[in-house]
Amino acid sequence: MKPVRKAILPVGGLGTRFLPATKAMPKEMLPIVDRPLIQYAVDEAREAGIEQLIFVTSRGKSVIEDHFDHAFELETTMEHRGKSIDILEGTLATPGDFLFIRQQQPLGLGHAVWCARRVIGDEPFAVLLPDDLMQGSPGCLRQMVEAYAKVGGNLICAEEIAPADTRKYGIITPGTRDGVLTEVKGLVEKPDPAEAPSNLGIIGRYILQPEVMDILANQEEGAGGEIQLTDAMAQLIGRQAFHGVTFQGRRFDCGDKSGFVTATVAFAMEQREIAPALRDFMARY
Ligand code: G1P
Repeated sequence: MKPVRKAILPVGGLGTRFLPATKAMPKEMLPIVDRPLIQYAVDEAREAGIEQLIFVTSRGKSVIEDHFDHAFELETTMEHRGKSIDILEGTLATPGDFLFIRQQQPLGLGHAVWCARRVIGDEPFAVLLPDDLMQGSPGCLRQMVEAYAKVGGNLICAEEIAPADTRKYGIITPGTRDGVLTEVKGLVEKPDPAEAPSNLGIIGRYILQPEVMDILANQEEGAGGEIQLTDAMAQLIGRQAFHGVTFQGRRFDCGDKSGFVTATVAFAMEQREIAPALRDFMARY
């Protein structure tokens, strides 16, 4: 079994739900307390042993690239003032291991993943959607890599969602469950609640076999007129092992304002310097 060394981070989206904040700034750069959303995903990938990160970007996203580079003026000025730059640790790309690929047209998640096919080659790979912010230790992708070591094949993070929300997610037809693993028998993208096979939703973490790229090459438009990763993955069922993994931790949907603010509170409560003041305020509020 080949190890999972590469990860795709689709960051091409327009972020219209956060306008006007995202007019001139990518939504992936919005901070949760003191780190941009994208950095949480990068940290999670690195913790899971990912060596190469492939960002699928679009116009207006180059500040993401800058975030993972040296900021000479800032570093030099801070050093002259005797201030530690340790806080910037973790923001530096390993030379040659952060790749940026443009998705020229917003044709869907499946298309974004396919844009990275040349870099993926014939290796298994992970996909992390930075909008889904995962809080837990070990991190979500690390938990999935551990599951992958046992069962191989394809894995998606699975979570029970509100039955009324099936139109927001890829939905799983579940088979037998064994601990954190659930067999995936079918997948459908954003069904109506009346047609949904369950309320087990796909959360934005995947470990996939490279064969999905060949399927994506010919994948037709699906839900919302977009090329859907879910539709391509569905075609692997029965040909390769396919499991859902229940994450031991908390997920925040930062693609949505209320999820974003909730995540801010949850992550702030983990920081000793600000938690007491915040707790006080929340109690009074
Ligand atoms: C995407 C996927 C969907 C998945 C979701 C998780 O949808 O297409 O299957 O459930 O991410 O966040 P999006 O949120 O991009 O509409």
